[in-house]
Amino acid sequence: MRISIFPDECALSRDLANLVARSLTDDPTLVLGLPTGRTPVLLYRELTQLAAAGRADFGRATTFNLDEFLGQDPSKPGTYREFMEQHLFRHVNLDPRRIHFLNGSAADIEAECARYEAAIRAAGGIGLQILGIGSNGHVGFNEPGPTLEAHTHRVVLRPETIRANASLFDGDADRVPAEALSMGMATILQARRIVLVATGRGKADCVRQMIEGPLTTTLPASFLQVHRDVLVMLDEAAASELRSVRLRSEG
Ligand code: PGA
Repeated sequence: MRISIFPDECALSRDLANLVARSLTDDPTLVLGLPTGRTPVLLYRELTQLAAAGRADFGRATTFNLDEFLGQDPSKPGTYREFMEQHLFRHVNLDPRRIHFLNGSAADIEAECARYEAAIRAAGGIGLQILGIGSNGHVGFNEPGPTLEAHTHRVVLRPETIRANASLFDGDADRVPAEALSMGMATILQARRIVLVATGRGKADCVRQMIEGPLTTTLPASFLQVHRDVLVMLDEAAASELRSVRLRSEG
């Protein structure tokens, strides 16, 4: 894992947006894996600005989002699809036919998960996967537990994940769906390049465990240690528990 530490989340998001724009220049047909959550909001704002300035061209790119709530009408507020429309999709020149999302209101959930895996394969696999991390160490909605699922699957969300998503539902955790669909850890690890982003003091402990701890299903992000091309982008607060950073500040 390579680690880059930035003074704050603005500097981090600018750098990551430039990395995405450069990747699109190098490969205009890039297949991007995209996250939702508070962390990527600034990234999407930066990408919107780069696209408006003619410096990020999504015209031939393909996207796959990591996860979606179960049982939600995709056009309604509160879905991750709607989040992406609001923060990125409606501001850049992505072709709607190449935007891929899990449909949380599909009648046959097993078939929907299989469809998503097949669509990723048909697109040639994910070239650049961007990830956030939950404060419990989840990536996508791969929640900590005794086992992990390899491929796209149905998930029961943990209480801390439900609380963390309340802001999408006017702050009302009771309205957050109890279940979701998510790419699995193998789906994520099959991406050719992965960039994981974490900001804020609240992520410092899970970031330390992800980088310095053992591989464990109780911290799903730790499985990124087995991937050969992972860049971890942190602000100083999220990096503050790392051994190397602690030694530097003590010495
Ligand atoms: P957050 O979520 O960016 O809102 O902290 C990250 C995640 O759960 O992946």
